[in-house]
Amino acid sequence: MTYEIRPAVASDQSFLWQMLYYAAHMDEGGESLESARVNPMLAPYVEGYGRPGDLGVIAIDAANSTNAGAAWIRTMPAGWPLHRFVDAAIPELAIAVVPAYVGRGAGTRMIARLMDSAAAIYPAIALSVRSTNPAKALYERMGFATIAEITNRVGGTSFIMRAALARPR
Ligand SMILES: CC(C)(COP(=O)(O)OP(=O)(O)OC[C@H]1O[C@@H](n2cnc3c(N)ncnc32)[C@H](O)[C@@H]1OP(=O)(O)O)[C@@H](O)C(=O)NCCC(=O)NCCS
Repeated sequence: MTYEIRPAVASDQSFLWQMLYYAAHMDEGGESLESARVNPMLAPYVEGYGRPGDLGVIAIDAANSTNAGAAWIRTMPAGWPLHRFVDAAIPELAIAVVPAYVGRGAGTRMIARLMDSAAAIYPAIALSVRSTNPAKALYERMGFATIAEITNRVGGTSFIMRAALARPR
């Protein structure tokens, strides 16, 4: 698959909400996309995206110019659960691809691009991933290491992972 990777901007918010829906596995729980927007544990990932410090990418399928996925990072509100494990200045990654594109390389491309761009402004990136999600292996390949194990918003186990970013010279 050939993808074009471009920066995510404020006008991509509706696509980011769609991708958050998959990233938070809301499709599996039969929840509506609308319920993400009002969920205090989910809304901070997307609401008002485009503020200073927000950084994201969109993968576009070069064959048909449609959006294949998104990956983005932002620092989260004060008191956010992740801050028990990482400094509040470390942004959190959210990522998903449209189901038809799973396992076809967009995730790897987006994370690599995002880590490259983020290195100029952040010392590290953190994320939370369910223990059952095969994405954990992808994150490990990209340099993330598990730093904690938590009970997630639906009562299952998730891992908190962190990757240090190499500052560009
Ligand atoms: C996680 C995700 C963004 C990865 O993007 P991707 O484009 O599928 O990943 P790539 O094709 O670049 O890399 C494939 C690797 O991703 C991992 N992976 C994660 N989820 C996978 C899935 N459902 N199917 C296959 N591989 C998956 C595997 O480690 C795989 O490596 P392998 O081929 O050696 O087994 C994507 O699978 C996705 O959107 N999943 C559903 C939403 C989600 O779980 N988001 C992350 C929440 S923390």
